[in-house]
Amino acid sequence: MTEQGHEHKRRSPADWWLFVVGLVLFSAIGWVVTPAIIYAEKPQPLNFNHKLHGPDGDAGKSCEDCHSFRDDGSFAGIPRVESCLECHEEVMGETPDEKKLVEVYIKGKKPIPWRVYAKQPPCVYFSHAAHVKNAGMECTECHGDHGTTEKLRPYQENRLTGYSRDIWGWAIHGWADPPERMKMDDCADCHRENGVREACFVCHK
Ligand code: HEC
Ligand code: HEC
Ligand code: HEC
Ligand code: HEC
Ligand code: HEC
Repeated sequence: MTEQGHEHKRRSPADWWLFVVGLVLFSAIGWVVTPAIIYAEKPQPLNFNHKLHGPDGDAGKSCEDCHSFRDDGSFAGIPRVESCLECHEEVMGETPDEKKLVEVYIKGKKPIPWRVYAKQPPCVYFSHAAHVKNAGMECTECHGDHGTTEKLRPYQENRLTGYSRDIWGWAIHGWADPPERMKMDDCADCHRENGVREACFVCHK
């Protein structure tokens, strides 16, 4: 009897292969297929080349020239199309993106409908002044290298919630370093480490 019990527990190589194939298959579904179904890719209205416009590029602007704090301390966010007029009143280069900028948005006097990767749900209150001015944090700490990129990466929207993919992150296993996401726990973890108030109303209106 005991002999036979042992026989039963022994796995044949075929069993192990089935296990491995199953594992790979379900991992693939979890990491590749599910995101492809959940997220919809939405185009940006234009490409924006941060490297070219920044301090080391041809336009030679600083971050603060375009992303300033208003006199009341609030953050101005993405610059309005009027601020591009200084250089783009007429088409100066060869690229289709610049042509579209001048013809559609500058001459058409229309705001550019940029999609904000870091955008939080409407119920969340976030203050740039608290983090940048009071806590002295760098933009890269939350936005990575966005300020020095040449091409805008695809914007992905969660089909269920309508929120940006950046909130829950691109690496759904969460092992990327830095994690490149900004969900509630990520805000709260840093707040805990820094002794910031933790009540719900601090981050929710
Ligand atoms: C200080 C001058 C300056 C300002 C201000 C400026 N740009 Fe530019 N921009 C440039 C230069 C120089 C180029 C390179 C010329 C070229 O070949 O198109 C350029 C190129 C571009 C291009 C085409 C390059 C590409 O990536 O396809 C776009 C689009 C563009 N700018 C958007 C903007 C927007 C939007 C603003 C306002 C938020 C802005 N620029 C403000 C100087 C400026
Ligand atoms: C000439 C103006 C200009 C300058 C200079 C500039 N930006 Fe921007 N920035 C923009 C525009 C236009 C957008 C919207 C398009 C985009 O997302 O890149 C933007 C968007 C951003 C975003 C938003 C990302 C999101 O979540 O959607 C960040 C972060 C940012 N800029 C950081 C920087 C940093 C850091 C610097 C300095 C190294 C900088 N920018 C310099 C015009 C500028
Ligand atoms: C503590 C993290 C953090 C830091 C530091 C930070 N940001 Fe942001 N940023 C965010 C979040 C979160 C949002 C989305 C806010 C929302 O949707 O209410 C955002 C949104 C933006 C936007 C989109 C416009 C808007 O207001 O919605 C721009 C542009 C931007 N940040 C630029 C910058 C720049 C430039 C710096 C450095 C001076 C910076 N950020 C520093 C977290 C941060
Ligand atoms: C890497 C660290 C870090 C991250 C990430 C972070 N914060 Fe903060 N936050 C701070 C610090 C430090 C302060 C305190 C700043 C000061 O001294 O006023 C603060 C302050 C605040 C305040 C003002 C608090 C008060 O008591 O008035 C709000 C609101 C806030 N954060 C919201 C958020 C939200 C929402 C997120 C995520 C989207 C976030 N923060 C992510 C570090 C962080
Ligand atoms: C440190 C900032 C912070 C604090 C404190 C905080 N939240 Fe949040 N909360 C967020 C952010 C950022 C999101 C959006 C990202 C996400 O869903 O993880 C969020 C999302 C949520 C959502 C989902 C809303 C939606 O539209 O998807 C609920 C519900 C919520 N919070 C409830 C609470 C409650 C209840 C508390 C108090 C126990 C609390 N939160 C405290 C930052 C915070």
